[in-house]
Amino acid sequence: MIKCDLTYAKLDVSVEDFQEKVSFYHRALHEKTGKGNDFLGWVDWPKNYDNEEFARVQAAAERIRKDAEVFLVCGIGGSYLGARAAVEFVQGLFGKKDVEVLYVGNTFSSTAIVQLLEYIKGKSVYCNVISKSGTTTETALAFRMIRQYMESVYGTEESAKRIFATTDKKRGTLKALADKAGFETFTIPDDIGGRYSVLTSVGLLPIAVAGIDIEAVMAGAKSAMLTLNDESLKTNAAYQYAVARRILENQGKFAEMLVSYESHLTMLAEWWKQLFGESEGKEGKGLLPTSVNFSTDLHSMGQFVQEGSNKLFETVIVVDQPMLDATVPEAQDDGDQLNYLAGKSLDWVNKMAFRGTLAAHVDEGNVSNILLHIEDTSAFTFGYLVYFFFKACGMSVYLLDVNPFDQPGVEVYKRNMFKLLGKK
Ligand code: PA5
Repeated sequence: MIKCDLTYAKLDVSVEDFQEKVSFYHRALHEKTGKGNDFLGWVDWPKNYDNEEFARVQAAAERIRKDAEVFLVCGIGGSYLGARAAVEFVQGLFGKKDVEVLYVGNTFSSTAIVQLLEYIKGKSVYCNVISKSGTTTETALAFRMIRQYMESVYGTEESAKRIFATTDKKRGTLKALADKAGFETFTIPDDIGGRYSVLTSVGLLPIAVAGIDIEAVMAGAKSAMLTLNDESLKTNAAYQYAVARRILENQGKFAEMLVSYESHLTMLAEWWKQLFGESEGKEGKGLLPTSVNFSTDLHSMGQFVQEGSNKLFETVIVVDQPMLDATVPEAQDDGDQLNYLAGKSLDWVNKMAFRGTLAAHVDEGNVSNILLHIEDTSAFTFGYLVYFFFKACGMSVYLLDVNPFDQPGVEVYKRNMFKLLGKK
């Protein structure tokens, strides 16, 4: 369960005033009648997903985990952010990993690509190339180099057993290439766009290779699907959040800052930024999604939040139960003068930092805060949370009368770049 607490949001109207509009767009989402309605496959996905493909993902992950030292996830945007968010959310940043999952194909940075190729030398490498369109240049270029490296080490036949492609069912350059080379392929459904695809094989194969229980992820998503299948603003936390964002925008806010007090939720925020930024930044509309990690960024961005232009609001993900905790030890000489904390848990200190910051920002800084409470950082909660954000995003963007499921603006840089690169 996720609780949306609007106590500190400083809304000048009640979210329930939006019930009529929300009911209208709820039907548009569920009856698939709204803008971009051919990309609403995610709505029922937690109960409709393909069991046969799911079992193939589990089998492939088991095979990879037995033999790989390094697993390369080659994709960009929605084709990698969800998996990376999940792995860090569930496993933390420094946990002991059976297989090292590395992310590539998300940049043209020559340093990043060359350094990765150097780093994997001598290690047992497997690779999952992920691209719905099959033509994304960052991904395709990195994959060409990885494939050539792998073929030079393992030969063509063995490489084909170590490479997995996740792409369109029938169409596209990557599908044709994978079939010709004999790579095992997984599918991105036609009606699920990149940034809504973490619960498909796009996210599930890397998440399973990392050793996370993907059945628990899907169970969490299913639980969210059932809980949030209710149009009432009295009870539907995703819709409460969706509406609160719009009210704050109407009150003159320009940016939403996603805040967490857990370092291993940084990639979740990156995933969230893509989801909301690409879904709503159109037609001259939308809130700018930004993110910080507190208390780390209280020492960099905290000043701006406290006293800068009052154009932003914060949405804080509050983790009730951290993955790990420890007690502050007593020190005999108290040289660092921290004995007043001895016997307290680190999480208690973190929670006090949160409470103190909340009061500072809300009471003195006059910054609106939405609080989203999650119980823990388990695989189940991850599945629940991503579905929660899908639903909130779809509703919030529909309330702007914008199509949440396309990204026409992304093509402009590509057109210019291709011209400069001499692509025919
Ligand atoms: O949400 C989207 O559709 C995009 O951000 C894509 O995920 C991203 O551009 C990668 O595209 P593709 O999977 O086709 O390589």
